[in-house]
Amino acid sequence: MCGIVGYIGARPAVPVIMDGLRRLEYRGYDSAGIALGGADTGLSIRRASGKLRNLESSLSLNPLQGDYGIGHTRWATHGRPSETNAHPHRDCTGSLVVVHNGIVENYCELQDQLKAKGHFFLTETDTEIIAHLIEQEYLDLRERNDGDAAPSLEKAVSQAVKKLTGAFAIGVISTDDPGKLVAARSGPPAVVGFGDGEYFLASDVPGILQYTRDIVFLQDGDVAVLTRSGISFSDFHGKPLKRSPQHITWDPIQAEKNGYAHFMLKEIYEQPRAVRDTLRGRISAASGHIELPGLDLSHDEIVHAERILIASCGTSWHAGLVGKFLLERMVRIPVEVDYASEFRYRRPIMRSRDIGLLISQSGETADTLAAQLEMIAGDIPTLSICNVVDAALTRKARGSITTNAGPEIGVASTKAFTAQIAALLTLSLYFAQCRKTMPQEAVQSILRELEVLPKAMEEALRTSAPVCARLAKIFSNATDVLFLGRGIHYPIALEGALKLKEISYIHAEGYPAGEMKHGPNALIDETLPVVCLATKDGDDPDSVLKYEKTLSNIQEVTARGGRVIAIVVEGDTAVSSLVEHTITIPRASEALLPILETVPLQLLAYFIAVEKGCDVDQPRNLAKSVTVE
Ligand code: F6R
Repeated sequence: MCGIVGYIGARPAVPVIMDGLRRLEYRGYDSAGIALGGADTGLSIRRASGKLRNLESSLSLNPLQGDYGIGHTRWATHGRPSETNAHPHRDCTGSLVVVHNGIVENYCELQDQLKAKGHFFLTETDTEIIAHLIEQEYLDLRERNDGDAAPSLEKAVSQAVKKLTGAFAIGVISTDDPGKLVAARSGPPAVVGFGDGEYFLASDVPGILQYTRDIVFLQDGDVAVLTRSGISFSDFHGKPLKRSPQHITWDPIQAEKNGYAHFMLKEIYEQPRAVRDTLRGRISAASGHIELPGLDLSHDEIVHAERILIASCGTSWHAGLVGKFLLERMVRIPVEVDYASEFRYRRPIMRSRDIGLLISQSGETADTLAAQLEMIAGDIPTLSICNVVDAALTRKARGSITTNAGPEIGVASTKAFTAQIAALLTLSLYFAQCRKTMPQEAVQSILRELEVLPKAMEEALRTSAPVCARLAKIFSNATDVLFLGRGIHYPIALEGALKLKEISYIHAEGYPAGEMKHGPNALIDETLPVVCLATKDGDDPDSVLKYEKTLSNIQEVTARGGRVIAIVVEGDTAVSSLVEHTITIPRASEALLPILETVPLQLLAYFIAVEKGCDVDQPRNLAKSVTVE
C-alpha cells in the first residue's frame, strides 16, 4: 500500500513528483524518497524517514537536480520504517533504482541466488532484491550480446519480473539507459498518464490527476516505457501491446477514494486484496508449509505453551474472540480473551508458560499497550497482530504478525478486521503443526481453501452488495437491531452490531443465539430486525449441530413477529423458507465462514448509514486511534 509517482517531460521533475506523493500520502507515510536522472547530473537519490514533510524539508535545504524521476511514499511491510529502508532502492553499482508497491514472496530465495553471484545488500527490504535482480539481468543480457549492443532497460526489467513471485507495481530508472522510466505491474494498481509532451506514472490516479486526465490503468503483466516522446506497452515477454488512455472525470476527492463514495466502502472492497496480502508468502497449500518468521518463538515455547492470553479493544477484540475459537479448536490450547481496558485492572494471573497476544489495527491503542505492559511485567512473551510494522505495540512485542491490509482511513475498522482473522487462522494452523494437534491433511485442506478465500470474498461482495442496499432502504428507520450467532459466529454478530452502532447510530446488540430465551426474547416484536448468522459447513458435524440449534432460535424469533435477516450459505433452503430476508455467501469450512459473514454485515451497516445520511467515514464522537485510556 505504498504510493509511487514518476515523471518525464519538460517541467522540473521534483515539484511534480513531490506534489503527486503528497496526494498519495494516505497510502503510506512512514518514509519517503525520490530519485532523479539527468543528462548532466547522472542519478541522484534523497530519502527520509517519517512523513513526507521530512523529505520536503531535506529537499528545500539541499535541492536535487534532474530531468526525470521516480518517488515513493512507504507503508512498511518488509523492514521497519527508516531512511535505509525507504525507497528508491539501488543496485550494487548505484546506477539503477527501483520503487515498489507490493510484496515479493520469494525474496529470501532470490537474495541467496544473488549473493552467490556477488551481490551485497544494504537494507531489510524485499524491494532491494528487485534492483539487484534487474542489474543481474542487465549483466546477463550484455554477456549474451557479447558486450555489443547495450540491452534496453525494459528488457532487463521484463526478464527480472518474470522471476518474482508475489505482488508488485514498480518504477525503474537507470543511467545505463537514460531518459527512460520503466514500469511493470502484477497485482497492485499502477497507472500511466499522457500529457502534452510529458508523461506520468503513479500507483493511483490522485497522484497525477492534477496534471492529466488521460490515463491507462496498467493490466497485470504489463510493462510500460515512458520517454519524452511517448509511452509504449509490452508484456513480460516483450510482445508489444496496445493500450488506449481513458479520460477520467473524477474530482480529486473521488480519485482518492478510487471512485467509491466513502473510504469505508473502498476499504470493504479492498478486503480480498488485504487478506491475500496477509496470507502472501506465509502459506503454501501445495507443500503444506506455513512460515511466520516474525513470530520469534522457539519450537519448544510453542509446544510447551499452556495458555494464550489475548487482549485487544473494539473490533480487534472481536477478532480475538474468533481467535479463541480457532486456537482452542485447532491447537487444543486454552485461550482467554480480555478487553484490554479490563485486563490490567483485574490483576490477571500469568504463568511462565503463558503467551500473550495483543491484537490491534493501529498498534497505538493506549488500553492495548497497557495490557501489553502488564503481560511484560508478568514475565510472559508477548506477540502482536498489528497492521503497522513499527507501531508502539510491535516495538515492544517479542514477535509480530503484520496484517498487510494497508492504511485504514475510515474510522470504522473493516479490512483490518478480516486481515486479523486471516492472521489468526495462519497462527492457529502454525501452532497446530508444531504441536501436531491436526492431521497434516486437514491443515493442507484449510490452506487450500485459504488460498482461494479472496475469490470467495469477491463473490460475497458481488452477491451481497445489492441485497444489503435494498435491505437498508427497508430497515434504516429501525431504532434497535439484534445480531445473533453461535460459536465462532457469535463474535461476528458482535462485530455486525458494533459496525451498525458506530456508523448509523442505531442501537444494536450482538448476542449468542442460544441466550435469547434467557432474557432478550422479551424485546422481540414486529418492529425489531434480527440479523441471524445461520451459515453451516455441511462437512462438519459440530457446525451442522450449531446450525440446527440456530434454526430453532430463528423460529422462536419469527413466532414472536421479529423480522429476521439471515446470512446463509449458497444452496440453503431450510432458513430461506422460514425468514423474510436472506443474504447468501459462498460455502466454506467453519473456520473461514467468519471472514465471509463479515462482508454483508459491513455492507448492511454501510448502506443503512448512507440511507440515514450519516458521516460514514468520521462517525460522531469516535477517533481512529484511541491513544488515551
Ligand atoms: C471499530 C473500531 C474500534 C477499534 C478499537 C481498537 O470499528 O475501529 O473499535 O477496533 O478502537 O483499535 P486498534 O485495533 O487500532 O487497537
